[in-house]
Amino acid sequence: MMARPVVALIASRDSLAETMARIATEVEQALDDLMPMPEGAEARLVEAMRYATLGGGKRMRAFLVMQAAALFGVDRRCAARVAASIEMMHAYSLVHDDLPAMDNDDLRRGKPSTHKAFDEATAILAGDALQARAFEVLAEPDTHSNPEARCELVLALGFASGSRGMAGGQMIDMVAPTLRAAGQPMGAPEITRLQALKTGRLIQFSAEAGAILGRAPGMQRHLLAAYGRDLGAAFQIADDLLDAEASTDDLGKTAGKDAATGKATMVAVLGIERARMQADMLAEQAASHLDSFAEAGASEDAMQAAETLRALAAYVVKRRS
Ligand code: IPE
Ligand code: IPE
Ligand code: MG
Ligand code: MG
Ligand code: MG
Repeated sequence: MMARPVVALIASRDSLAETMARIATEVEQALDDLMPMPEGAEARLVEAMRYATLGGGKRMRAFLVMQAAALFGVDRRCAARVAASIEMMHAYSLVHDDLPAMDNDDLRRGKPSTHKAFDEATAILAGDALQARAFEVLAEPDTHSNPEARCELVLALGFASGSRGMAGGQMIDMVAPTLRAAGQPMGAPEITRLQALKTGRLIQFSAEAGAILGRAPGMQRHLLAAYGRDLGAAFQIADDLLDAEASTDDLGKTAGKDAATGKATMVAVLGIERARMQADMLAEQAASHLDSFAEAGASEDAMQAAETLRALAAYVVKRRS
């Protein structure tokens, strides 16, 4: 059989959207439960944390955790806690990314950014507290019965979010326009690294977390990490393409800012067409890491999860928001 019938492709795309919506609802509930409103003056902080995390976003990182966990038959309630944790970390990165000292964006997920809805001090604190809560949730006994698994999750998220991960990448992102103004613009290899850190690491964590929860053998964890790494690279190039080509309405965040502020993006160095080719190539490469998961011998649930993760790679580069 050379190619799949078009009908089957449409059916699988529909089911991806449905599965994403179902998981988004599940994770929304977990986030709600994990951030109850306190009494006292600190209630404003939790209100801002809830504002930044609830009721928006594609929940792609949460989806990755849930699907990767399904490959290994992990208890859904445990996986949903890890999915909520990565969404807290991601939301924190967005709250700080939007601050005036960083990208200075007033719009996020179709509503005012957290520092606009509250104030800068509250947004900074909400980011700080979301980050702390993300680690706390991973370490809590309900996340996994095995303390070693919980410790591995904490370790992996620390690596993915710190100076060798998201925060390090954000630093490179911030200095790039200055380098460019000084006549030393970043080339494609440096931008690849920037994007691997600022975006790729958290996405890689999300895929790897399923293997950690499932106590999977090293090889399978390695394949999921490779999938997440390539998916993350494709995801950020797609984000850069959307910034250049989509509307503010479709994105729910201000379009066209990367070029206006001299950001180092693949679109800036390669142009639209070559950047798109690069994203497509990376998405295909991401999917190829999962070939062995769909082989005969795997459970039906695991085969379905592998197929869904492969479909996600195609979605990441074709998405409109
Ligand atoms: C935006 O991520 C920030 C990047 C790393 C490009 P998403 O596009 O996943 O944002 P939400 O969660 O859907 O709002
Ligand atoms: C942000 O990249 C990546 C983060 C670590 C938050 P961008 O600055 O391109 O993300 P958007 O476009 O504001 O969502
Ligand atoms: Mg940014
Ligand atoms: Mg930004
Ligand atoms: Mg962007």
